[in-house]
Amino acid sequence: MTTTRHNPYQVTDRNLALELVRVTEAAAVAASAWTGRGLKNEADGAAVEAMRRAFDTVAIDGTVVIGEGEMDEAPMLFIGEKVGSGGPGMDIAVDPLEGTNLCAKNLPNALTVVALAESGNFLHAPDIYMDKIVVGPYLPEGVVDLDSTIEANLKSLAQAKKCAVSDLMLCTLDRERHEELIARARAAGARVTLLSDGDVAAAIAACLDDSEIDIYVGSGGAPEGVLAAAAVRCVHGQMQGRLLFEDDDQVARARKMNPGADPSRKLALEDMARGDVLFSATGVTGGALLHGIRRSGIRTVTHSLVMRSKSGTIRFVEGHHDYQTKTW
Ligand code: FBP
Repeated sequence: MTTTRHNPYQVTDRNLALELVRVTEAAAVAASAWTGRGLKNEADGAAVEAMRRAFDTVAIDGTVVIGEGEMDEAPMLFIGEKVGSGGPGMDIAVDPLEGTNLCAKNLPNALTVVALAESGNFLHAPDIYMDKIVVGPYLPEGVVDLDSTIEANLKSLAQAKKCAVSDLMLCTLDRERHEELIARARAAGARVTLLSDGDVAAAIAACLDDSEIDIYVGSGGAPEGVLAAAAVRCVHGQMQGRLLFEDDDQVARARKMNPGADPSRKLALEDMARGDVLFSATGVTGGALLHGIRRSGIRTVTHSLVMRSKSGTIRFVEGHHDYQTKTW
């Protein structure tokens, strides 16, 4: 006798992962009309609107927990907004256009990003900075630590990877606030890749075998930190974070969003993204991770990364869309 296991509300439903890619594809195609036009807000607006519309066809009862801002400051995909056509209750984290400047300047690595988990499983992060450190899978647990010096982290990572510090490539955002980190990493022997924007793609790159990035370190957006954590969960990498506060008002906002938790504690990966997580990103402009949007005859070609934490499967999905017959 065969037994069937049937759980209609299983978050990691395979079809749901593939439905999610349609959401990031729609946003990427919309944003691509704005690449290189120097208009980052217009590009972002187009991505937001397309993503919001695409969510209407996804069979979930979703609540945006990482979104475009508070209800009174964002017309769509605001924190708390309900999306989806009905189904299991899910937390949704979105960045309809990660790297608005990259898109406006037609530079590599502008992405559209969505992550999904069962309700209550994503950190509710205010729009402030977060300190982040990310390394890939199959390394000893705790091989690097946010509270260690960069020299100690590089030494420990090199030991674990059985290489010299001089073989390591660190990646960080090219910002004044990282000058000391960059100088010390180089003095320790490591090479440094500097990004103008886009630390979600960089965090993912630190976890992939065929990338030259060994470690991502530095401060960037906290919402982007939660999205990166969702991706890192899916590829079974390691990440720690810590919210960085500039004033008491930011502390109060973080407390209100996550009652009962110490807002300035060091966050483990599971503090930011727990349970079964789905992640999808589509390239707007091409980069090392994803190709950008291409036109091929009457078709528009999208390139996406779709991942599930449960299986650890990393899928690259190429979509050839016929807009003469298709409506999103
Ligand atoms: P936007 O898409 O909102 O422009 O964010 C791009 C980004 O580079 C993120 O990847 C990163 O986390 C954050 O900005 C860094 O912020 P800042 O530019 O203030 O250093």
